[in-house]
Amino acid sequence: MDSSVTSTEFTATDAPVRIPGPATPYQGDIARYWDGEARPVNLRLGDVDGLYHHHYGIGDVDDTALGDPQDSEYEKKLIAELHRLESAQAEVLLGHLGDIGSEDTLVDAGCGRGGSMVMAHQRFGCKVEGVTLSAKQADFANRRAHELRIQDHVRARVCNMLATPFETGRAAASWNNESSMYVDLQDLFAEHSRILKVGGRYVTITGCWNPRYGQPSKWVSQINAHFECNIHSRREYMRAMADHRLVPQAVVDLTPDTLPYWELRATSSLVTGIEDAFINSYKDGSFQYLLIAADRV
Ligand SMILES: C[S@@+](CC[C@H](N)C(=O)[O-])C[C@H]1O[C@@H](n2cnc3c(N)ncnc32)[C@H](O)[C@@H]1O
Repeated sequence: MDSSVTSTEFTATDAPVRIPGPATPYQGDIARYWDGEARPVNLRLGDVDGLYHHHYGIGDVDDTALGDPQDSEYEKKLIAELHRLESAQAEVLLGHLGDIGSEDTLVDAGCGRGGSMVMAHQRFGCKVEGVTLSAKQADFANRRAHELRIQDHVRARVCNMLATPFETGRAAASWNNESSMYVDLQDLFAEHSRILKVGGRYVTITGCWNPRYGQPSKWVSQINAHFECNIHSRREYMRAMADHRLVPQAVVDLTPDTLPYWELRATSSLVTGIEDAFINSYKDGSFQYLLIAADRV
């Protein structure tokens, strides 16, 4: 499906959908990165139940579900287990969005292939608008929404999350699931603050470097280079939120919850080479996996 198609079913904006090119050469790089991304670790996990994520997992590994590593079915079970942990991560994010009704509209900033958007609609019955820099991802997400016959409720578009076409003060909630490390946080929270209604909820799950460590560690630098991103510090998140009327309501350190996922993933055939950087930086305290839920006041 053409990701630029407009639909009157959606009330998030009355303005025509604008599809400008990337705002900066960097955004062009990121669009190309995600347009070309087809790692088995993302696609084979999504094939398990049709929810395609580009984020990491949380929770304890179910050893019983995995069974014997010598078993011929073990790899398949491991993929299903990693996927279960990634969906559990999205459930935790959605669980912090507050009371959402079926008439509400939510915004997924940096929606990837749309797994979290589908889960949000299935959970709340609401409308979900997603934006991504990647036309391939937006088409993928919209195709899935059509297959599930929820295209009137779930839609992705190619758009810069720092300048969305959504109406001011309309969204009941918005989120970044592992997508805030691609943008300036002042610009990002200015835009969330604009589109959220007063009393609305903003949630992010993100990796951030720990100010207690001092500066970004070599592992954090490796992760930045691997994903072409720019991981912010925990302090930057707090400061930028405060500057834009986003008041943290919950700050949850998910680092201990995500380590089992990484340790399991490091044993699989789906390794991408970045697993050690995550495990080492989580263990030496230089990097944290954080959920921040904030009220728009
Ligand atoms: C790691 S993926 C996360 C995808 C999704 N949130 C998930 O949980 O599966 C990062 C996403 O951020 C998007 N992104 C990065 N910078 C963006 C920007 N300026 N505007 C819109 N999307 C952006 C990418 O296109 C990609 O979809």
